[in-house]
Amino acid sequence: MCGIFAYLNYLTPKSRLEVLDLLVTGLKRLEYRGYDSTGVAIDSPDSKNIVMVKRMGKVKVLEDAIQEHFTGGEYSEPVATHIGIAHTRWATHGEPCERNSHPQRSDEGNGFVVVHNGIITNYNDVKTFLRKRGYEFESETDTEVFAKLVHHLWKTHPTYSFRELVEQAILQLEGAFAVAVKSKHFPGECVAARRSSPLLVGIKTKTRLATDHIPILYGKDDKKQTSDQDADSGKPQVLPRSDSTSEFMPLEEKEVEYFFASDASAVIEHTNRVIYLEDDDVAAVRDGTLSIHRLKKSLDDPHAREITTLKMEIQQIMKGNYDYFMQKEIFEQPDSVVNTMRGRVRFDGNAIVLGGIKDYIPEIKRCRRLMLIGCGTSYHSAVATRQLLEELTELPVMVELASDFLDRNTPIFRDDVCFFISQSGETADTLMALRYCKQRGALIMGITNTVGSSICRESHCGVHINAGPEIGVASTKAYTSQFISLVMFALVMSEDRLSLQQRRLEILQALSNLADQIRKVLKLDSKVQELAKDLYQHKSLLIMGRGYNFATCLEGALKVKELTYMHSEGIMAGELKHGPLALVDDSMPVLMIVLRDPVYVKCMNALQQVTSRKGCPIIICEEGDEETKAFSSRSLEIPRTVDCLQGILTVIPMQLLSYHIAVLRGCDVDCPRNLAKSVTVE
Ligand code: G6P
Repeated sequence: MCGIFAYLNYLTPKSRLEVLDLLVTGLKRLEYRGYDSTGVAIDSPDSKNIVMVKRMGKVKVLEDAIQEHFTGGEYSEPVATHIGIAHTRWATHGEPCERNSHPQRSDEGNGFVVVHNGIITNYNDVKTFLRKRGYEFESETDTEVFAKLVHHLWKTHPTYSFRELVEQAILQLEGAFAVAVKSKHFPGECVAARRSSPLLVGIKTKTRLATDHIPILYGKDDKKQTSDQDADSGKPQVLPRSDSTSEFMPLEEKEVEYFFASDASAVIEHTNRVIYLEDDDVAAVRDGTLSIHRLKKSLDDPHAREITTLKMEIQQIMKGNYDYFMQKEIFEQPDSVVNTMRGRVRFDGNAIVLGGIKDYIPEIKRCRRLMLIGCGTSYHSAVATRQLLEELTELPVMVELASDFLDRNTPIFRDDVCFFISQSGETADTLMALRYCKQRGALIMGITNTVGSSICRESHCGVHINAGPEIGVASTKAYTSQFISLVMFALVMSEDRLSLQQRRLEILQALSNLADQIRKVLKLDSKVQELAKDLYQHKSLLIMGRGYNFATCLEGALKVKELTYMHSEGIMAGELKHGPLALVDDSMPVLMIVLRDPVYVKCMNALQQVTSRKGCPIIICEEGDEETKAFSSRSLEIPRTVDCLQGILTVIPMQLLSYHIAVLRGCDVDCPRNLAKSVTVE
């Protein structure tokens, strides 16, 4: 997904080369989101123009181009105040190429340059409007209309401030987006705004900040008068300034640096003080002063935006000794699952407290049904835990893909409890589904890994899965932590059910052994690598299982698809004879999960159906299960745990297998082609 990074230094001298270095590093931190091209814009040495460099491909290609381009000594001279903007683009409108990369510009003179994340849905109408006024377009992007619209407004409303120009442009645009804008007509100023796509502002000062909040402002700048043209233009009018903000101090620092970024991983090495912008916020920096404005006034607006202190550490987002982030994240799972349970599960007293939902438990217990909604891997964590939730809550549980849920206009009631499961907390479909359910009065619970994300902020209550930053595009440790979070929820819901106490104890006991058992599974790594060597040249891999392990089949197949570009299918073993069996012969690679759980006999049945069609499946079975192992020459033995948690142990060999196949096939493990970590468009 596109990434925005902008940097503004005010009275903190930096050379343009240093600024470029900061911009490139910022982009590197956003690489994990997935992208196909990059670009930066800084001031020319005389500060009268804007220079842009854009490239197809990786940030490294841009970095090399920057080194070639900015060779003059003038780029090494410090400048007291400067603003640079940068971008990683994930193509939505127009093919990936330099012309379509960001920043996009308003005119040949680079008067206004824009980096943009998201989609402007009415860009064709705006394009027609601007074409009639003489604007010619050089890219196929929706972003270019934004730059040109700001330019048009600047020409027609010469008294507008930079912030007002951007605001007026946004008011004409529809869709979900975040933008950062730079202009040669407003040197040293930056304006950024969000509507449904994430954006935050990092603040770095030498001394402690004098305030923890930035007041929210409405309306036009003091110093500027809105021209008469405003009233005739039919454009939305700016709102009068609110006077209710005086208790909060504006942020007026003598020496300050600001960072605008799509997520915290790009700013954390510079500052841990950030403001998460909300939808329709416009953040503007002028003369070093940051102000936050609202596009639309609403009664429940707070008076100020809080400056949050991030707890994330830079080491948390670095690769360490691993070759890839994904590999690191797979191997972190013994720790990440413990972090998910830390402070929540008391193994000695068999008690579980989920602080983020405890006040809502009585209401949840009275609900009509539970709805679990997510996309991709997050959806699979819902599939994996549905059976246990049904058993321990004794409520109907619906599991929904967010996109399909929205397509169907699914009926939602006030006494529904809706879970929105999302690693990033920003997935557009999941967020839309959340808003849909919230409007209909349901109780909204967020299950996310990203503190401060949109899903977190818009939920009534929730559980942070605390898996730590996940950088690899293919989700791994977030899945096991989401799984455990949902299991913990089921345990909380069954606390006072006498008939379920034995079952609860069995699960709690298993949770306490889980980290050690994951370590044991990870020791299969070299064996899995050998299996990968058998498989990597094939075109397809079928993964079969049922019951508690069906979700592992879906998740395993998703991992294989996204990382290796091979075809793979997760097959419910009960459906085998209704179609998939036709695919089985002596050359089709098959992997089967056959564990000693309540569906063991049925799985054995499926295994026999496969072997009697000359299929040679790889079997994932329980340690020491000689009888099952005897059906194949290739097997992976995993430790036994309680049936409902077995899916955590069976998914790990699948993660490792897809990782090794991807390496053998020479695929980009951390950033698979065409995919993005955080999909903030519908
Ligand atoms: C993208 C990612 C997947 C992820 C899905 C949902 O497709 O590539 O790995 O599972 O989005 O993301 P979320 O952040 O909502 O869990």
